[in-house]
Amino acid sequence: MKNIIIINGPNLNLLGKRQPEIYGDINFNDFLVELKNKFSRISISYFQSNIEGEIIDKLHEVGFDFDGVILNAAAYTHTSVGIGDAVASISTDVVEVHISNTYSREDFRHVSYISPHAKGVILGFGLKSYELALTSFVYS
Ligand code: DQA
Repeated sequence: MKNIIIINGPNLNLLGKRQPEIYGDINFNDFLVELKNKFSRISISYFQSNIEGEIIDKLHEVGFDFDGVILNAAAYTHTSVGIGDAVASISTDVVEVHISNTYSREDFRHVSYISPHAKGVILGFGLKSYELALTSFVYS
């Protein structure tokens, strides 16, 4: 069984309540239940933090043993050299995910410190972006 972890960054604990016109009105924990049912042959772990260093620590913890990381570093995507370096430092493949199409938004969201080190990037499909990222690991 493949071990995949979804890591969500700052403010994504508020999914369902936070700017629903951009991020939708579904709570991530409810979505996770659906995802686990749909991908019952994959072991899906979940970690969310609003703290940059905790995200880096989690990447170090899973990044040499897990089969895949799905990372939505949220706002840190656009600012964090440290998270970008952590992604570059681990051997597990990382798929970068965003709920919104960051390229159709403000200019500062067009920069990603993660993308150069990610296996691939999926963005703009709402929560389905996570599902597409998981599918990419099913076929890898
Ligand atoms: C986001 C996009 C980021 O620009 C933003 O800061 C987020 C969420 C997304 O999933 O669309 O918090 O990563």
